[in-house]
Amino acid sequence: MLNFKEQNAEYLAYIENYLNEQCFCDKSQPQKLLFDAMRYSLLAGGKRLRPIFVFDFCRMCGGDWKQATPFAAAVEMIHTYSLIHDDLPCMDNDDFRRGRPTNHKVYGEATAVLAGDGLLTAAFSYLAKAPYSADIRIRAVEILSECAGELGMVGGQVLDMSSEQRQCTEQEVLDIQSRKTGALIRAACMLGVLSGGGNEAQLAAAGTFANHLGLAFQIRDDMLDVIGTAEEMGKSVGTDAVKNTFVQLYGLETCDKLVHKHTSIAVECLDVFSDSKFMKFLADQLTGRKV
Ligand code: IPE
Ligand code: IPE
Ligand code: MG
Ligand code: MG
Ligand code: MG
Repeated sequence: MLNFKEQNAEYLAYIENYLNEQCFCDKSQPQKLLFDAMRYSLLAGGKRLRPIFVFDFCRMCGGDWKQATPFAAAVEMIHTYSLIHDDLPCMDNDDFRRGRPTNHKVYGEATAVLAGDGLLTAAFSYLAKAPYSADIRIRAVEILSECAGELGMVGGQVLDMSSEQRQCTEQEVLDIQSRKTGALIRAACMLGVLSGGGNEAQLAAAGTFANHLGLAFQIRDDMLDVIGTAEEMGKSVGTDAVKNTFVQLYGLETCDKLVHKHTSIAVECLDVFSDSKFMKFLADQLTGRKV
């Protein structure tokens, strides 16, 4: 049995290697610029939390997590596309992401939009080609499209944008979060259970875990916009002044308490899995993350 550090390193090495060697490497295409732009953001070294959620929920359900790599890569592609578009001048207008200038700063806005489009579209092709039965692949498409689409992440981004320059209620802020950030984390955890052959109770538990962990994650993200540094975070900070953040709603101190509270609730959901030590440790680590 590997310890946390070893298991984490194994997950990270596996997804990095797959993204680097199996994704958008065809140099013979005339639209090479698009491939470069897609790889520029995809391989810029994010934390890869969503692939780790896919892998570890698969493992917790007794599955072969390496086999779930196309699912893990698909979620990371959607996440990366959401970041490229989130940084555009028409959205959050940020210059710095994953330790590099943002995609549109390097490739221009048109190519950045299209790089996002390319990643979004490719994600579903990776789900479709994964080594699972047609039933599992169709369910995966259903989960990821619902979580990423108009009811999930894209829906949340629209609400986030339309809430600028006005005061939202607590319920509105929670609703924005659960869509723009929570939904994709939920997709990752549920695809992990699906690929691991988990049962419906485990699928539901993964969903509830993700709802609370996703909330804690976005509260911490909002805190880091205030207390983090761009050098450590690898992305622009202090840019949320026009947004309805959890920090504006509750203040830093209450935010910190809420991060811990929702992480504990998330961790309790893991009791339906027999070996959840890794995920519990990861969830606890995220409460104090600086990146
Ligand atoms: C950033 O996500 C955007 C949010 C949903 C808050 P991450 O903090 O997971 O970003 P990367 O993948 O590590 O760059
Ligand atoms: C981003 O939320 C959520 C998505 C990209 C879907 P933020 O706008 O707070 O993310 P950062 O802080 O720019 O990473
Ligand atoms: Mg945003
Ligand atoms: Mg942003
Ligand atoms: Mg943020």
